[in-house]
Amino acid sequence: MIIEPRMRGFICLTAHPTGCEQNVKNQINYVKSKGHIEGAKKVLVIGASTGFGLASRITSAFGSDAATIGVFFEKPPMEGKTASPGWYNSAAFENEAQKAGLYAKSINGDAFSNEIKQQTIDMIKADLGQVDLVIYSLASPARLHPTTGVLHRSALKPIGGTFTNKTVDFHTGNVSQISIEPAVQEDIDNTVVVMGGEDWSMWMDALKSAGVLANGATTVAYSYIGPEVTEAVYRKGTIGRAKDHLEATAFSITDSLKDIDGKAYVSVNKALVTQASSAIPVIPLYISLLYKIMKAEGIHEGCIEQMQRLYSERLYTGNGVPTDDKGRIRIDDWEMRADVQEKVASLWLEATTENLPQIGDLEGYRSDFHNLFGFGFEGVDYKADTNEMVNVSSIE
Ligand code: NAI
Repeated sequence: MIIEPRMRGFICLTAHPTGCEQNVKNQINYVKSKGHIEGAKKVLVIGASTGFGLASRITSAFGSDAATIGVFFEKPPMEGKTASPGWYNSAAFENEAQKAGLYAKSINGDAFSNEIKQQTIDMIKADLGQVDLVIYSLASPARLHPTTGVLHRSALKPIGGTFTNKTVDFHTGNVSQISIEPAVQEDIDNTVVVMGGEDWSMWMDALKSAGVLANGATTVAYSYIGPEVTEAVYRKGTIGRAKDHLEATAFSITDSLKDIDGKAYVSVNKALVTQASSAIPVIPLYISLLYKIMKAEGIHEGCIEQMQRLYSERLYTGNGVPTDDKGRIRIDDWEMRADVQEKVASLWLEATTENLPQIGDLEGYRSDFHNLFGFGFEGVDYKADTNEMVNVSSIE
């Protein structure tokens, strides 16, 4: 079929297999170009199919020749209907890993469930014995709690008062005011259940009890802080409470891994266009201004550059893991640079529908968004008849 982008709100309903393959290949080439990283050799990535998780998997495999197991929740294709992009990304990743002689298997299902945890443990036992790095990179709007059976939905809301600020519809470029009503306690609690640290902790407990964590194993989850302009809806909002919980969980996991000399970290990453972040109001406007400035300064990074730097300059320096005073790894350091933030804050006040294409990088935002779904890559013939029925080779 001829596959074109079909946008609906902040999602795209179609994905291009060849474009997704190109995206994965570009990321692999980047990691290879930066040289070998003396990192973990057996790696489990939870949330491995898109965004930071995919980039982590690629960095482990092609930076450190690691065997990887990837867990994700993606939609396979049906005749005439494309898969979700993470499916095609994973298919391409496995093919490339195979060509490079690297072990790579994937599990498609709900990572919050006991069944998927057990399936993962069985796969580690059968194929790898143990893992020495666990990346936790889930971003989900909902979680079916495995113990209570309750379906929790997260909310992206401010706490304590209505938040009114600018936002942009990045498809039309229209800058407008948005008002978001404050969360009630239930919204906060639900968001913490979905995006906080409980499930990460459950994964680590399950892996440890099963004896599949190697001595000295490390686990890393991802967090975000961001600037003042997004604070009310992000770091001081419901999602921020979940991130506080996730960050606190790193300490309790480290405690529980003491006897195997294990360690849990949270890495604070840069704001980037992913399926998860485009759903958060205000963030797309912030990102388009930020991109413009960071690109002009020559310090812009995408997911793969961030993960390559996380591994090579933070996790595997051979000389300890540098953290901030709260024990967090920081790779949002360039985003949070005072000069960068000052410029964003002043552009923020100026931004209008009319001037955003000049003062912001709306084109860069759109292009990254299209790329998420495999569209807009050089060297891909989007007019060609394309087979949507692509398999992920390790999944029956
Ligand atoms: P993403 O949407 O690109 O990736 C989410 C991954 O989770 C995908 O692999 C998806 O298949 C998987 N997933 C979702 N629900 C699942 C489920 N029930 N079972 C199994 N897999 C499931 O998201 P992104 O942006 O890469 O986010 C990953 C982490 O990074 C999140 O914790 C996010 O808060 C954090 N982060 C994101 C930033 C951003 O600007 N995008 C900035 C800093 C941190």
